[in-house]
Amino acid sequence: MKVPIEKVAIVGAGTMGRDIAQAVAMGGYKVTLYDINESILKKALDLITENLDVGVVKGKVSRQMKENTLNNIVVIDEIMNVTGDLIIEAVVEDLQIKTDLILKLETINRDHTIIATNTSSIPITRIASHLKRPGQIAGLHFFNPAHIMKLVEIVSGSETGPEVIEALREFSKNIGKTPVTVNDSPGFIVNRVARHYYVESLKILEEQATDHQVVDSLLENFGFRMGPFRLMDLIGVDTNFAVTKSIFESFHFDPKFQPSRIQQQKVEAGHHGRKTGKGFYEY
Ligand SMILES: NC(=O)c1ccc[n+]([C@@H]2O[C@H](COP(=O)([O-])OP(=O)(O)OC[C@H]3O[C@@H](n4cnc5c(N)ncnc54)[C@H](O)[C@@H]3O)[C@@H](O)[C@H]2O)c1
Repeated sequence: MKVPIEKVAIVGAGTMGRDIAQAVAMGGYKVTLYDINESILKKALDLITENLDVGVVKGKVSRQMKENTLNNIVVIDEIMNVTGDLIIEAVVEDLQIKTDLILKLETINRDHTIIATNTSSIPITRIASHLKRPGQIAGLHFFNPAHIMKLVEIVSGSETGPEVIEALREFSKNIGKTPVTVNDSPGFIVNRVARHYYVESLKILEEQATDHQVVDSLLENFGFRMGPFRLMDLIGVDTNFAVTKSIFESFHFDPKFQPSRIQQQKVEAGHHGRKTGKGFYEY
């Protein structure tokens, strides 16, 4: 049976959640955006407005589109109001936190509700194994910045219903994205391959072969849009570290995915990148 998607809710208003909310609202959907942290919600609305203003200045967003987009977003701080036909989960990369939250979302939503997780690395089947309706969950993996990047990976867990995948493909196209469907595996496709961009660059720092500015400059001059350290700062050094740890564990501690102690220390020092004003660079 086809699942109609009209009402969308997003859980987590951090780096990804707020930009996903913007993309979905620009696609004409009504969106509720929820976070446990009220100050993050306020910051999210400010940053979405800033993004839209940049779009207006560049001539990519009309004033009417800016107004419509902002009118489509409602921020909420009460989980019991997180209801919809589609819930997009974008909280921290932690299996326990995600499953506790999704279990709760299942109980307050109806049977037809699709729960899409924006996890970068946690296998969908692993999350689904904790749920009452494992057929209703899939991965919907956006790329940063989510209001600009076109690609989304749609990930089918072993129990995900084909109608859920079809509904997510249609929804992604409706918000101007390019969906690519893949089967479940740790890190899916893009993050699994991209892991080496970060892991190998961090090894270069550990070996003191050069510094992070030189690595970034070389790779940017070679043709990558962003060097690995600038990119980790954009992603969130903490999020990037959590994703590497998760992929390392899922591949049974294969040393090729081994997380870096340099990165761990940055996380412990609170140098999480742009979102904290300092990472490998200062902002
Ligand atoms: N940052 C990226 O570039 C990127 C890209 C693709 C996917 N992802 C994935 O998206 C997800 C979110 O990453 P992010 O970078 O936006 O993280 P973030 O740290 O910027 O934001 C996470 C948000 O989740 C909120 N949160 C934590 N626990 C919560 C709960 N129980 N209920 C409601 N809100 C809660 C936090 O308050 C925070 O605002 C992760 O699974 C990550 O792997 C991140």
